[in-house]
Amino acid sequence: MLTDRFGRIHRSLRISVTDRCNLRCTYCMPEHTPDYQPRSEILTFEEIVRFVKIAVSLGVDDVRLTGGEPLVRSQLNLLVQKLNEIDGLRKISLTTNGVLLQDQLAELFAAGLRHVNVSLDALDEESFKGATRRGGLDKVVGGIDAAQRAGMVVKVNSIAMRGLTDHQIVAFGEFTRRTGIPVRFIEFMPLDSDGNWNTSAVLSGTEIVEMFSSQIRPLVPIERNGSSPSADYRFDDGIGTVGVIASVSKPFCDSCDRFRLTADGQLRNCLFGEDSGDVRALLRGNASDESISQMIQSAVATKKRGHGTDDLTFLRPSRPMHAIGG
Ligand code: 5AD
Ligand code: SF4
Repeated sequence: MLTDRFGRIHRSLRISVTDRCNLRCTYCMPEHTPDYQPRSEILTFEEIVRFVKIAVSLGVDDVRLTGGEPLVRSQLNLLVQKLNEIDGLRKISLTTNGVLLQDQLAELFAAGLRHVNVSLDALDEESFKGATRRGGLDKVVGGIDAAQRAGMVVKVNSIAMRGLTDHQIVAFGEFTRRTGIPVRFIEFMPLDSDGNWNTSAVLSGTEIVEMFSSQIRPLVPIERNGSSPSADYRFDDGIGTVGVIASVSKPFCDSCDRFRLTADGQLRNCLFGEDSGDVRALLRGNASDESISQMIQSAVATKKRGHGTDDLTFLRPSRPMHAIGG
């Protein structure tokens, strides 16, 4: 098992399959297309599958595919299918901005995908464009609808930013009550390429719960589920679910069970901090499974207790979000 110095067992692996994206969210990407990682440096599906098999042998049972935008990687369904064949991998999920979801839904479903988190920050086209610097709200909503109709477990993730989210409360309240899809708000973290983050731009989880309660109807807490970082609530009439992921105001590092693999094959034991192992060099250097396994174990072993965004010594990571994976 992958246990760190603080007794946290690591079962959850996030894999970024590309740093490219078809949106330019202000809290993530720069306005102009950045220098993307060269394709030759991006892990192939075969390399990813080999890595995941080794991770599963160490106790990982939950893999989430992220980006950039994972659906801009060609034929992602083929990766899902190969991962789905790995014994011991309990859950495969996808985090997507949803723009290409409807187009790819049938093949992703056929490949075995059953869990999808769609990032969506606004429900009117103008605010959506403001947040993403691109259009496409209709496509995202169509993708959510298609995934739900196919029988996938769908969640919506929304950034919690002052000036954006505070104008979307009624719309999201109506959305979760109508569709039954939970909406979870993630506090804006200092991972934006533009470096505009500051504490006053973060809309806290507490404020969000208060806004829903006063603008829609009272929210009642639901019992916390395992290692999930979100605190979830249901409206008092039982219809509609809202969650808050208080990554900045109440970091959930104590129960963190995740580590990450970037698209260019670097291990990261935390969103914050630095790369903690060059897996690609091992994969491409004829290394044994055993040495890759040791690299994973040592990345977990050196994990810090917390990310310290609430601490003055906090250092912004040198990679922005789209190059780490959400
Ligand atoms: N703070 C918090 N969440 C972020 N994401 C991207 N950038 C940030 C940030 N600076 C989220 C997106 C998406 C996921 C991939 O990561 O909203 O849900
Ligand atoms: Fe793309 Fe997601 Fe970043 Fe938005 S948050 S720019 S959709 S990777």
